[in-house]
Formats: sequence, C-alpha cells, structure tokens
Amino acid sequence: MGRMVKELSIGTALGTTDPAHVLAHKLNRHTFWCGQSGSGKTYALGVMLEQVLLHTRLPVVILDPNSDFVRLAEVRDTAPDDVAEELRTRDIRVRRSSAADGEPLKVTFLDMGVRARAAVLQLDPVADAEDFNAVLRAESALRGGVEGSIVDWFRRQDDPAQQRIATRLENLGIADWDLWARGDDDINDLIDEKPDVVVADIGGFANSVEPKAAALAILDHLWANRASRVGRLIVIDEAHNLCPPDPVTAVEKLLAERIVQIAAEGRKYGLWLLLSTQRPSKVHPNALSQCDNLALMKMSSRQDLEELGRVFGYAPEGLLSQASSFTQGQTLFAGGFVPQAQLVQMGERLTEEGGSDVVIELR
Ligand SMILES: Nc1ncnc2c1ncn2[C@@H]1O[C@H](COP(=O)(O)OP(=O)(O)OP(=O)(O)O)[C@@H](O)[C@H]1O
Ligand SMILES: [Mg+2]
Repeated sequence: MGRMVKELSIGTALGTTDPAHVLAHKLNRHTFWCGQSGSGKTYALGVMLEQVLLHTRLPVVILDPNSDFVRLAEVRDTAPDDVAEELRTRDIRVRRSSAADGEPLKVTFLDMGVRARAAVLQLDPVADAEDFNAVLRAESALRGGVEGSIVDWFRRQDDPAQQRIATRLENLGIADWDLWARGDDDINDLIDEKPDVVVADIGGFANSVEPKAAALAILDHLWANRASRVGRLIVIDEAHNLCPPDPVTAVEKLLAERIVQIAAEGRKYGLWLLLSTQRPSKVHPNALSQCDNLALMKMSSRQDLEELGRVFGYAPEGLLSQASSFTQGQTLFAGGFVPQAQLVQMGERLTEEGGSDVVIELR
C-alpha cells in the first residue's frame, strides 16, 4: 500500500494559475526559510502553517520572538466559510512573555537541566564548584516550596555558599524574572498535551536573557523526551537570535548546541526544525547544512545567494539567481518537500498576522 500523499496548497506556480503544493509527509525533515527583511518570510510561514493545521495532525511549537503568531487562532473574514469553520476547531495555544493580555509563558527553573541552570546563574559547575553545589543542595527544599522570596530563603541559610547565592540572585535579578513558573503553569506541560499549535511568544520579557532561557528550557525538554518519538514541527523564527554561528554567553552556547544537535540527530526522533532567518551566514553552519527543504524569498545579496547555492546543492542555480528580483510573496521552494524545485506566488493568509510594523503617525 502506498503512502497517501497529502498536498498542502501554498499558492500558485509563479506566472500561472496552477496551484503549488508542499508535500505534508515530507515535513519530516528540517527546513530553512530565508529572505531579506520585509521579503515576506513570516507571512509565507503563516500560509504554510495554516495548511499544516488544516490537513495534518502534526503538532507545531513556534518560538516567536516578534509576537507574529499570537493571532493564529483568529480566522480572517476573507477565509472561505468551510475552511474557517475547520480552522476554528483547531487547538491553538498562545503563551505570552509580555505583561500584555493572555496567558503567561513560564518554565520551571528546577526542571531545567543542571548545565542550563548553571548557565542561567552564570556559574561554572567546576570553576565555581562550591557555589553551584550550594544550589544543588537547596533543590529539595525549594521543590517543597519555600515561604516568601527565594532570595530571602538563601540568605537565611547557615551555609556561606548559600548566602552567596542570595547575593548572586539579587545582583543578576534572576529571582524576579517573569519567566519562572511557581506552580502548574509550565509551558512544557502544555507542549506535552500536544495541542495542534503552541505559540511561545518569547520577545516581550524585561530581561534579555529570558527569551533565550525560555527557548533553552523548551528545546531541552523536547530533546529529553525524544524517545517518545512524537513527530513535531519546531518553528524558530528569527533563528539567528537562538542559533548564531558565534554564541557568546553560556546560555547562548547551550542553546546553539542544542539546536545543532536537534538538526543533526533529531530527525529520527521526530524533532523537525524550521529555521527562519534573513541571511544564511547568521545561522550556525551545522544547523544550516542539515536542512533538506528550502524556501527562499527575496534576497538581493549575491554573496548570500552564492552561499545558499553552496549549502543547498539541490536548489537549481537558475532559480536561485532570480531571488534578487523577487517581489513580495514570490518564493523559491526546493528540496524534498516539493515535487520539484519551483517558483511560487504565495497564497493569502487565512488567519490574522500578529506583531505589526511600527507606524509613523502623520500630522
Ligand atoms: N504574500 C504577501 N501578501 C500580502 N502581504 C504580504 C505578503 N508577504 C508579506 N506581506 C506583508 O509585508 C510585510 C512584511 O512581511 P513579513 O513580516 O512576512 O516579512 P519578513 O520577511 O518576515 O521580515 P523580517 O525579516 O523583518 O521579519 C508584512 O506587513 C506582511 O503583512
Ligand atoms: Mg519576520
């Protein structure tokens, strides 16, 4: 018996009215989604994800730094009635980092791996052995729940190393992060329920380390549970923020390492990445080289196009070179998820776009 081929309609073959498709069952590969700023990456991504929602049971997790997908559950008036009705039955959960309305995005510090916790605290388990050990020894007390603030709890202990942790937490402001769950509101519990989509809106935190810590907690959790082999699409918009070639801090290094590892080994566990960014050189080469699918929007830089040609040998030179003159919505699709490499005019969104450009007020 052959596998049923489900075609996701994403628009039209450029210059024609013929429908263009992505093959749903080939989303079990990593995908690179690229184009210069304003070329329409996020819009086009929305077009494809809507089709994934409509026609597959593939759970999607979106790491969304610009709140671009927070309105994915809102169907546009222009969507055909039957499609709109279908979309409204899908389970789309949004967790927000900003104090704005909506349910907050939280993770549990104690559930993060030892290395991740050390990185957040800017402690080295070897070089800062005493202090890091003081954190480990506090674990069972903290899990039981402490009265009042965690900083005060560390300060009250007899152990000088634990008192130093109080100072460290206070100095770095870590105990005050909005990211921390203090109960049963952890986004990883939600992800484990496998709703159709979980949008993790990570861009609105007060501290610049919080979005990275959030992403690390989520990706580490997915990796730790890889043996469950739940097929999942992990979308990382603005992937250069989370997986640059040259990570600096300990948190950034762990995060890039984890993404590179999922890129290299995640496929067989059903962990499939979709990395979206403006330039190929801004994403770690070891993640880039694992992408078997390519969607390319307008790209003026010849240097970037040459790099794409080198990394993605399956993208025909003659089509790549046209990307410099693409207009909005024009996209080159290549790799396993399309029947053949082709130029596409993206279709219209069915759901509302989120985070909008800053508007200039007129006088
Ligand atoms: N195919 C399209 N049809 C209509 N509007 C579009 C289309 N593609 C993009 N746009 C609009 O153009 C603007 C920029 O698109 P988008 O945000 O998707 O670009 P981007 O490539 O993600 O940019 P950035 O790299 O800055 O995030 C948005 O306001 C979007 O609504
Ligand atoms: Mg974008």
